[in-house]
Amino acid sequence: MTRRLTLLILTGLLASSGAAFAQGDPEAGRALAQRWCSSCHMIDAGQPTGAAIGVPTFTGIARMPSTTALSLNAFLRTPHVRMPDLQLSNPEIADLSAYILDLKQR
Ligand code: HEC
Repeated sequence: MTRRLTLLILTGLLASSGAAFAQGDPEAGRALAQRWCSSCHMIDAGQPTGAAIGVPTFTGIARMPSTTALSLNAFLRTPHVRMPDLQLSNPEIADLSAYILDLKQR
């Protein structure tokens, strides 16, 4: 409930501030994921499960019906209890989202 509300508010903020969802570069996103995300997440294609307990794999995230560019954008912009606040820039978020969404097809 709280998370849903946060997403709604963020979505509204993003829309009203005119923040563009630039098309990210999946290759750049993969390099970023390797550096910043792979200590917790399984980031490669074809790894639907595994890694640390309770940490979803990127393929698993990509396959969730609720995962979209918008949901990733909102998620990566908000601090999370069990994830470090990485202070990602807009282009970094776009690249990471593009990489994760790409995994859906693999
Ligand atoms: C310190 C460990 C850690 C690091 C580093 C980390 N994550 Fe996570 N991440 C988690 C955990 C634990 C969860 C599941 C808990 C949750 O949903 O809050 C999670 C959940 C997520 C989800 C949400 C899936 C959903 O349920 O919607 C996404 C997307 C995600 N991480 C992306 C990333 C990206 C991109 C990076 C690198 C920039 C990253 N994470 C780095 C631990 C981490």
